[in-house]
Amino acid sequence: MGLFETHPDVQEVFAPFRGLQVEQVKHSKELRSHALRVMGFVEKAVRRLDQPDKLERLIRECGRNHCHYGAHPHQVQLVVPQFLQAVQPTLGDEWTGDVESAWSTLLHNVTYIMREAMLEEEK
Ligand code: HEM
Repeated sequence: MGLFETHPDVQEVFAPFRGLQVEQVKHSKELRSHALRVMGFVEKAVRRLDQPDKLERLIRECGRNHCHYGAHPHQVQLVVPQFLQAVQPTLGDEWTGDVESAWSTLLHNVTYIMREAMLEEEK
């Protein structure tokens, strides 16, 4: 929701959310299902941290898929600060500088590789 508020163009990429008010999107089942997909992907990525080649293939595929969803390469990185802000309160005292830096590094790498794959797909 934070991302849609700061970047309304991102909301437009999701067909079911076009033209909807913030409150309508907030309670939609499509928003919940996309959030679960993103978190499912992050979980998969974390499980493959010790298999960098596999992980990169997975991320590239996700990036290529996003081209077909109509997302722009520059939009993917906008998720990083929003992701950190959303996860921080759920961890309470366990949110340390090291934890923040680990999530930030993971998300920056994921979104960087997605963007590269999208730019290649667009060529
Ligand atoms: C870290 C960033 C992101 C991750 C990890 C991510 C992950 C995913 C995943 C796993 C799916 C399910 C389908 C598939 O496996 O390809 C999906 C679908 C989708 N994503 Fe993303 N996404 C990200 C950012 C974005 C952004 C910034 C946008 C919009 C500009 C976007 C738009 C969409 C759309 C339109 C779909 C298809 C509809 C849906 O599944 O609800 N995604 N995303």
